[in-house]
Parts: sequence; structure tokens; C-alpha cells
Amino acid sequence: MHLRNESEMNNNYSFGYDSNVLDYLSYRALKTFGFVLPHLKLGLKVLECGCGLGIITFEIAKNIGDGFVTGIDIDKNLIDSNNEKIKTSNSKNIKFEQADILDLPYHDNSFDIVYMQALLFHVNDPSAALREARRVLKDNGTILVKEPTMDRMVFSPENPVLEELIDLFRRAVRSYGGDPSIGRKLWELLNETGYLMRF
Ligand SMILES: C[S@@+](CC[C@H](N)C(=O)[O-])C[C@H]1O[C@@H](n2cnc3c(N)ncnc32)[C@H](O)[C@@H]1O
Repeated sequence: MHLRNESEMNNNYSFGYDSNVLDYLSYRALKTFGFVLPHLKLGLKVLECGCGLGIITFEIAKNIGDGFVTGIDIDKNLIDSNNEKIKTSNSKNIKFEQADILDLPYHDNSFDIVYMQALLFHVNDPSAALREARRVLKDNGTILVKEPTMDRMVFSPENPVLEELIDLFRRAVRSYGGDPSIGRKLWELLNETGYLMRF
């Protein structure tokens, strides 16, 4: 278990960090975060993997009182800018660290909740990522995962431009070794990697 330096990290993130991508992620972060809220309790230790701009990480911090949330991302620039945001916020229960989901720099059984959203579909070994998340999760902890299923998207009314855009996304993700349809495979993946499923 160690934090690899930048040159050792294999950043296969297909979407990249163009300002348009970051604007989109920022726009949709809070709209998609609701399913996490019912799981948050005061005092919990939470790890968010692939935290991107940290928007959701700050929301988690507001809902865990004297608990603590750590946001990790493979991109150092995002992490540095998120750590700058901490300085101008009053949050004392949050930190950001550069790390790879495939090699987390944390001890076994460290977190009550491990959360990730729109991360696994970029990772070329999602099973290894889930195993690593399980390693750092406490035995009675909870993993929360939300991933897209880009082959089952329906637009109404029909919109050829959006269809083409989604097709481009799918191809970009595949060309970097990711799986744009991972959302509908999560059940099998979580089962295979030893998680107990509850609804
Ligand atoms: C589509 S963005 C999602 C950001 C955020 N989870 C959200 O839903 O708004 C995916 C993020 O995962 C990060 N990422 C990609 N591969 C990673 C890896 N192997 N380990 C950690 N983070 C990774 C990228 O740098 C990017 O910030």
C-alpha cells in the first residue's frame, strides 16, 4: 500500500479535464448526489473515490458532523484546487489526496462508507477497483456506487445530435479500456468481489 508518484500513475481517464467537461460535471454533480444522503450519519468516516471537483465531497462533509470525508482523485491539479477550496471554506472534516482507486494509500478496514460515482466506467479493471475499495471498507461498512449505462439511453423526443454525442462518449471510454455500459453490470461485479447486496 503506497501512494504512487505522478509518473507511476497510469491515468487512463478518457474524458480529460477540459473546462467544458469540468463545467458539465459541476452542473450535474448535485443533481445526482441524492441517493447518498440517507446513508450519511454524524461521525462517519467516508471515502469518495474519483471525487473530481470535490462538489459532492463538500456536501458529504456537511452531513457527517464530526465525522471525516476524504476525497481522492488520480488528477493532481483537481486535488490541489480542491485543497485550495478547503482553505476558503470553514470545513474542518474534509481532505483531498491524489490517489489511484487501484492502489489506495489507506489501511484495511478504515472507512464506514466508500462512495464512487462515474468512476468505474473509466477504469480498465473495475473488479480490482472494487476489491481495493472493499479492503479499506470496515467489515460492517457500506459501498455506494453509481455508474452509467450508456448503451440503454433513450432520448425523447429523438435527438440525432445527442445520439451521436453519446456514441462518441462510448467510443472514447472504450478506446481507453473502460466500459461505458458498466452500470448494468454492477450487481455481478459487486457479487463477484464479495459484497453482500442489500436494498
Ligand atoms: C466522470 S469524473 C466523475 C467525478 C465525480 N465522481 C462526479 O460524479 O462528479 C471521473 C473522475 O475519476 C477520476 N479518475 C479516473 N481514473 C481514476 C483512478 N484510477 N483513480 C482515481 N480517480 C480516477 C478522474 O480524474 C475524474 O475526476
